Amino acid sequence: MITALFSATDSTWDKFGAALQDAFKDAGLAVHLTRSAEPSSVEYIIYAPNSTLQDFTPFSNLKAVLSLWAGVETAVNNPTLTVPFSRMVSDGLSEGMVEWCVGHVLRHHLGMDRDIGRTDAVWDPVIPPLARDRPVTVLGLGALGQAVAQALVSLKFPVSGWSRSPKTIEDVRCFSGDAGLDDALRDAQIVVLLLPMTPQTEDVLNAERLELLSRGAFIINPGRGPLIDDTALLAALESGQLAHATLDVFRTEPLPGDHPFWAHPKVTVTPRIASDTRADTAAAVIAENIRRGEAGEPFLHLVDRTAGY
Ligand SMILES: NC(=O)c1ccc[n+]([C@@H]2O[C@H](COP(=O)([O-])OP(=O)(O)OC[C@H]3O[C@@H](n4cnc5c(N)ncnc54)[C@H](OP(=O)(O)O)[C@@H]3O)[C@@H](O)[C@H]2O)c1
Repeated sequence: MITALFSATDSTWDKFGAALQDAFKDAGLAVHLTRSAEPSSVEYIIYAPNSTLQDFTPFSNLKAVLSLWAGVETAVNNPTLTVPFSRMVSDGLSEGMVEWCVGHVLRHHLGMDRDIGRTDAVWDPVIPPLARDRPVTVLGLGALGQAVAQALVSLKFPVSGWSRSPKTIEDVRCFSGDAGLDDALRDAQIVVLLLPMTPQTEDVLNAERLELLSRGAFIINPGRGPLIDDTALLAALESGQLAHATLDVFRTEPLPGDHPFWAHPKVTVTPRIASDTRADTAAAVIAENIRRGEAGEPFLHLVDRTAGY
């Protein structure tokens, strides 16, 4: 019997407990899934980085820590977490992110705000351009960025993307490394941020880079708050360099009530809902990683501690 400790909030347990048991059964694994155990008996920890568990030292027989979250910036530098550490990549998470990003891209692309809630009885037709004439840049071409880029390509947007290592993705103009960032951003009309939070990605969208975008561009950030220099963002909205920012993530969450983003007419705040880990598809990934651990096979989706994500 394998012992797996579930270390996350009560509400996460309510969502995941049964789905994990089902996934272990489907994978043919005999797992004792528990919320509390004698540390030396624990072989796997299924982990949400906001868990109260921060000291992994007592878990002397731990084989891996399996994150329920895609973003691992709050755990990646934990010096007591020395075993293999995987992040969450799953169909449900990717599908949710694609739907949220495509929805917000289309809102801005089609200028939907002009008509939604209109009560002034003004008949004022404005025909939007076709997607093929609206360049979009996706910063981050990982599990989520690639899925979003491909969905936008399928709608015929000209898509550019940026990642740390070079990539080849059909119909996406791929740029990489520090040298590729300016070219990825130049003349973009919509930018979607799907980078992880690392020391290298903080303030990646700063005042100079915002100036590279097409005038009146839209920013959509479901990545992490610190990817954008907030002061530069507000200045660019004020000057008209940016038309609108749709932000799902912030330096402080929940976003404080007196933060200027809340009342700003050119900012849409969404409360960190772009995509959530869905129990069924995520449980299957956790079960597969435990199966791999038991079979001596390499784990999926391992965090690169040097890169920080
Ligand atoms: N708002 C929400 O609800 C929500 C939900 C889930 C995730 N997220 C956020 O989305 C992020 C991305 O998730 P993911 O699963 O797609 O992550 P991922 O698979 O690790 O992909 C990260 C991408 O960012 C690129 N990157 C990292 N550092 C870079 C740098 N310094 N310069 C250029 N590119 C860099 C990586 O390049 P390489 O391809 O070369 O490695 C990769 O393409 C998460 O870290 C999290 O912050 C938000």
